[in-house]
Amino acid sequence: MSKPRIAVVVGSTREARFADVPTAWIAKLAAERGDLDVEVLDLRDYPLPFFDEVASSAWVPSKNEVAQKWQKKVAEFDGFIFITGEYNRGPSAVLKNALDYAYTEWNRKPAAFVGYGGVGGARAIEQLRLNAVELQMAPVRAAVHIVWADYAAIKEGKPIADFPHIVAAAGDMLGQLSWWAQALKAARGSDAAVAKAA
Ligand SMILES: Cc1cc2nc3c(=O)[nH]c(=O)nc-3n(C[C@H](O)[C@H](O)[C@H](O)COP(=O)(O)O)c2cc1C
Repeated sequence: MSKPRIAVVVGSTREARFADVPTAWIAKLAAERGDLDVEVLDLRDYPLPFFDEVASSAWVPSKNEVAQKWQKKVAEFDGFIFITGEYNRGPSAVLKNALDYAYTEWNRKPAAFVGYGGVGGARAIEQLRLNAVELQMAPVRAAVHIVWADYAAIKEGKPIADFPHIVAAAGDMLGQLSWWAQALKAARGSDAAVAKAA
């Protein structure tokens, strides 16, 4: 079986976003494991309107061309690492909108999270875990939480790799993501084989 393909989804599109720093760090760390194919998926490259279709794409194919492009791209992956700040205790609107703009393409794939903020993005991540369940994803238990003091030092140039507790959390999270990505990729593959034979 080929390596699972993992997308690191940049959950903020604003010009001054912090998201780029944890994105580059976790993408490199994930790739260095050697068991995952890693690609950064930047929502800036998919300028989706606020959801404006007649129904979820679970029921009615989307008309919007960017939405179609987004769904096709999401379908390429076997798992996801969502990078999220916290906006009034939730994820960014742009990330939630991007989740809403696909459905089957998320199904039966694991979701992992890197958060930052006052409580390390924990409240945004918990909301995203609920969204992931509705999207029939498997959210992994371990997550990376970058709290304010660490966030401030990282903003001033301290490398994330210099924080052993963050690196340890990332190791746990990537291990769980890899296990689920491989298990679910194999299961989706055998579902497809059974369907083809029927
Ligand atoms: C409108 C707004 C609301 C925010 N609410 C929270 C919050 O509830 N909790 C928190 O920890 N940080 C909050 N923040 C701080 C953001 O998490 C922080 O600016 C973060 O860097 C945003 O992610 P980004 O830079 O990748 O866009 C808020 C920022 C904005 C602009």
